[in-house]
Amino acid sequence: MPYTQDSELDLLFPSEYISNEVRAQLHPDLHVRVPLRAPTDLFAEDDTITQIRPLASSDYRRGHLSILSVLTVVTDPGEAAWVAQFNAMRSAPLTYYGIVIVDKATDRIVAVGTVFIERKFLRGLGSVGHIEDIAVDKNQQGKKLGLRVIQALTTISENSGCYKTILNCSDSNIPFYEKCGYVKKENEMAKYAPERASTPRL
Ligand SMILES: CC(C)(COP(=O)(O)OP(=O)(O)OC[C@H]1O[C@@H](n2cnc3c(N)ncnc32)[C@H](O)[C@@H]1OP(=O)(O)O)[C@@H](O)C(=O)NCCC(=O)NCCS
Repeated sequence: MPYTQDSELDLLFPSEYISNEVRAQLHPDLHVRVPLRAPTDLFAEDDTITQIRPLASSDYRRGHLSILSVLTVVTDPGEAAWVAQFNAMRSAPLTYYGIVIVDKATDRIVAVGTVFIERKFLRGLGSVGHIEDIAVDKNQQGKKLGLRVIQALTTISENSGCYKTILNCSDSNIPFYEKCGYVKKENEMAKYAPERASTPRL
């Protein structure tokens, strides 16, 4: 399948929100050099052809759920329900920033991550960025794709004015997040809801 350019996609948010510095540092295997129009600059990077980009409404077909299944159990809701969830996220402006890294050769997703922005009353009506659902294709791990996803999401959080960016992780992933510049703080608490026959919606 040929690679789909950002301009042909229906994106969750504007692709300019993703740092050019992070784009430029992607692993060479996933990094394309294309001729630009200016003859003096034949093989400069073309920022309009991106490998790291916002989630798109058609990414169900590029294996979005199968990458998430690297992280945890994923139940496939079907494409229509997936797209409805995408639209629900997009209808909350300046809140959900899901990003993907795409293997240009196959147009398949190889890494995913999200930051959502929580608005608060404290800290002078401050905001906090919550990083969630980070996963890299098993065959592509170790190429710094996870690092690039975290860097891109952290930049979005900081550019959104968040005074901090936080996430939860297992002990085994602490060294990875430390490499990304994060430090261990406090503890995580969780209470899972009991099983129900149907999902309640407020
Ligand atoms: C954790 C995960 C996202 C890391 O992504 P990745 O692309 O393989 O990692 P990177 O190549 O970007 O690693 C960046 C640095 O962290 C290190 N690192 C990555 N995972 C590590 C781990 N579990 N323990 C120790 N170091 C680790 C790398 O060696 C690299 O170090 P270097 O800069 O010295 O070379 C990926 O392994 C993954 O998807 N795991 C399964 C799902 C998961 O656990 N997600 C996180 C949920 S909180």
